Amino acid sequence: MTRTWRIAVVPGDGIGPEVVREGLRVLEHVARLEGIAFELTHYPFGGEHYRATQEILPDAAFEHIRTHDAVLLGAFGDPRVEPGLLEFGIVARLRFGLDLFANVRPVRLYDASLTPLKDKGPEHIDFVVVRENTEDAYAGMWGQFKRGTPDEVATQEIIFTRKGVERVLRFAFELCRARDRRRTLTLLTKANALRAMELWTRAFAEIGAEYPDVNREHQYIDAACMFVVTQPEQYDTVVTSNMFGDIFTDLGAALVGGLGLAASANLHPGRTSLFESVHGSAPQFAGQNRANPLATIMAVSMMLDSLGAKAAATRVEDAVVRVLRSGRLPNLGMDSGVGTDAVGNMVLAELERAGCEGRSDDTTPSPATR
Ligand code: IPM
Ligand code: MN
Repeated sequence: MTRTWRIAVVPGDGIGPEVVREGLRVLEHVARLEGIAFELTHYPFGGEHYRATQEILPDAAFEHIRTHDAVLLGAFGDPRVEPGLLEFGIVARLRFGLDLFANVRPVRLYDASLTPLKDKGPEHIDFVVVRENTEDAYAGMWGQFKRGTPDEVATQEIIFTRKGVERVLRFAFELCRARDRRRTLTLLTKANALRAMELWTRAFAEIGAEYPDVNREHQYIDAACMFVVTQPEQYDTVVTSNMFGDIFTDLGAALVGGLGLAASANLHPGRTSLFESVHGSAPQFAGQNRANPLATIMAVSMMLDSLGAKAAATRVEDAVVRVLRSGRLPNLGMDSGVGTDAVGNMVLAELERAGCEGRSDDTTPSPATR
């Protein structure tokens, strides 16, 4: 019996609709090849919808979205709307509302030509970052006092809860074990200055005792920003707090081809999960059929992997990798240089080719489980 996966799709602003369109073409194609059934629900939320209706993400829509198996997001942010309103009202609302506590961001170099690092190849850069996704400064506990006066004060609380820290650490230990590579989990903190991060280092040692087969490393985030550039090969699985994870994963993305390729999975095992590119809405390219859709296509691969369609996930990833290695893309920035639909067509052609040849010989597991 085939199960029909229900996917909520929120294309959003700027280039979001165009890159999501290509992601869905790839999804439909691979579903046909693999005999998987999908049902899509499209939602109009984003800047355009907000300007027309004053609605950001109504409660009823949120409740409807959460009945799906997964959510595929495009991009959010509209220059005509106050910065942060849509990002927090839609992206953060879904992350927090669905309690998606683990943001999984693979940093994997598919081809030596894609890294700005000298003398580094695919064998040196292949790690995954697990970013805590529901706490820290993102909890929104901020305030202003005496605004606009010389005595003005602005505050924002960083919060960590035992429960929140513990569940993301456990998730990372499990992922590190499942990847089964160097079995090294690196915790990034700033416990020397942010004394509250003692909770992280203590929980890391305590929970780590349950995983004697996983080596534990602890680094300060500032030093890690240096090491990831000089010795990226030392990382296997990385776990860190929300804001450090936000920053460290942009650095990671720059090491393997940039935001044109970086995708992420927002997970809470057993619940509705959310998949998105790491890039923004790039309004300067919107509606011109220029934007690079590969990050969204990689997000589709992560979604398939998380839904348990492992073969389909690997097929999509392999097809993207073959496009990257073919040298047919002039650059990997947000401007594809060849057309959004043309990049989608290249991926479809590679999928078709692999479909005819049977499984490709690349048996690398797909991003979310690597
Ligand atoms: C990301 C983004 C978001 C974040 C923004 C848009 C709020 O930068 O997904 O990394 O900071 O989490
Ligand atoms: Mn970010």
